[in-house]
Amino acid sequence: MNTNTSKIQTRRLRELITGMPTTDGAGVKLVRMIGQPALLDLDPFLLLDAFRSDNPDDYIAGFPSHPHRGFETVTYLLAGRMRHKDNAGNEGVIEAGGIQWMTAGKGIVHSEMPEQENGRLEGFQLWVNLPAAHKMTQPHYQEHDASSIPTETRPGTRVKVITGKTSNGTTGPVVQPLTEPLYLDVSLEANTDFNEPLPVDHNAFVYVIEGSVSLETDAGEDATVRRDQLAILGEGNNVNLKSQNADARFLLIAGKPIGEPIARGGPFVMNTQAELKQAVQDYQNGLF
Ligand code: CO
Repeated sequence: MNTNTSKIQTRRLRELITGMPTTDGAGVKLVRMIGQPALLDLDPFLLLDAFRSDNPDDYIAGFPSHPHRGFETVTYLLAGRMRHKDNAGNEGVIEAGGIQWMTAGKGIVHSEMPEQENGRLEGFQLWVNLPAAHKMTQPHYQEHDASSIPTETRPGTRVKVITGKTSNGTTGPVVQPLTEPLYLDVSLEANTDFNEPLPVDHNAFVYVIEGSVSLETDAGEDATVRRDQLAILGEGNNVNLKSQNADARFLLIAGKPIGEPIARGGPFVMNTQAELKQAVQDYQNGLF
């Protein structure tokens, strides 16, 4: 009997990260949670940006034409609409509740522009790394609108499953066997417990969108994670989060670490400086 795999070990809070307000693209205001001095990366995750504004001045300039190579960009919208267009002729609009999982692979040049002149724009962009052997893969998309993202309900709980599989068997539409990501959007009523097993070798974090949740620290105390904070989870095979005296909503994201060197230069993420140089050259020579 292998007791190690059957015992429940709840992941405790390892570190609480406060986001860094910044701008990107042509001046879109956002808060960078991963990919900033307090958290350079969380293998396989390279970046997490959160944006939320009712003021068009904060988002209207969008993200005009820019390249990517070596990883995946994942856009999840909660409110508003974003139009994307790439140099291979792909074009579409991501609507509220929809996900775009773009494998940039060997290179893509695209724009991501708000498809609205007013109202709220809210969402996230997550960057997921690719292993060295797959960085130069053919670019491709997995796009799903709100209606094709399954929602699992539990008492006081609603779980939208974007990718991965819950303990009840609800499976998200996005597939990525290289990093086996889990991407859940979880809503809890007040004073509700959320328990879910997580693969023991995956890195995992929680980003709170609304309200607050509590989880245990290494000292055995309860820590509170508030709106706009990111909690890195420690070792274990299970997560236990509790909402407090109000409704809460959070992203629970996990993935299998790649464990390779990261060479990072703006929109290119490779393994070596030489590969980064090559990426810049290939982009400048119009080879994307
Ligand atoms: Co982009």
